[in-house]
Amino acid sequence: MFLKEQQGFVSGQDICDQLGISRTAVWKYINKLKEEGYEIESVTRKGYRLLQSPDFMTEEELIQNLPDGTLAGDVIYYDSVDSTNEEAKRKAAQGAPDESLYFADNQTAGKGRRGRTWVSPKGEDIFFSLLLRPELPVESASMLTLVAALAAAAVSEKYTGETCQIKWPNDIVLHDKKVCGILTEMGLEMNEISYIVVGVGFNVNRTEFSEDISDMASSLCKETGKKVPRAQFLADFLVEFMNRYRRFLKEQNLASFVEEYESHLVNIGRKVKIIRKGQEEIRTALGINEMGELIVQKETGELETVFTGEVSVRGLYGYV
Ligand code: BTN
Repeated sequence: MFLKEQQGFVSGQDICDQLGISRTAVWKYINKLKEEGYEIESVTRKGYRLLQSPDFMTEEELIQNLPDGTLAGDVIYYDSVDSTNEEAKRKAAQGAPDESLYFADNQTAGKGRRGRTWVSPKGEDIFFSLLLRPELPVESASMLTLVAALAAAAVSEKYTGETCQIKWPNDIVLHDKKVCGILTEMGLEMNEISYIVVGVGFNVNRTEFSEDISDMASSLCKETGKKVPRAQFLADFLVEFMNRYRRFLKEQNLASFVEEYESHLVNIGRKVKIIRKGQEEIRTALGINEMGELIVQKETGELETVFTGEVSVRGLYGYV
């Protein structure tokens, strides 16, 4: 967009000259941009100045913000899709390449963990899935979800200026409320990983949450009052994630991530309720090991590790 590339005011005549159009066409062009949601200031004898762009979530907008070489695969945007995870799995079955991104403005059947629904209204939040085809042992796949959580915490901190925490294994928490969830799914062929889909939902700009979840869930904007430019935020997440992902593929374990992870772990030192096959046990969370398992302590002092997928972890008095 022409005005975006200009610093400060640009005169109507300059726009005519640079775009090779008439004065009337400039006036029409500015009005069309205003209708699309651009905020443009017009001042006599100075010209036009772009004050704010609408929060578009498009391929073009994302790619403008994404450094070259961040992703090796396809980047595909949907105005609306059932679930970006389902779409990524369909594309995987058709042979889509490693490091492909599927992102949407709205999901009609967004999926959460444990068969829950992920509410995905249009124009406000961020929904995407990364299709990865790593050479990894099957048992290591669940670690990827912790790598994604680190990237999600880092980018949330960058945009809010506040410390964002991780509720093990991969919920992002701000002011004790969940602002992002991650759902990782895997496809196997002959007992080897054919693909992993890392699906991420960030609550960024939504301010309305139904009563039944408003004490547990929130958005970055609701908590801080700062609107999030979605395409730029997603591009930043991808950079944060791919850097860590490439390191993880080399190291094949989380040893070098433990310190960063534990510094964000909301459960650390707190009593947690571990729900395993319907049975509840109270433990104190101490940290994670290099496999990404949660290390917990029984009242007797005995240590145990808890594997992702196996259990659900809750705080004693609420969500964290
Ligand atoms: C959770 O329950 O915490 C996980 C939520 C994951 C939601 C994201 S939104 C993008 C991707 N597509 C889905 O259907 N789910 C994930």
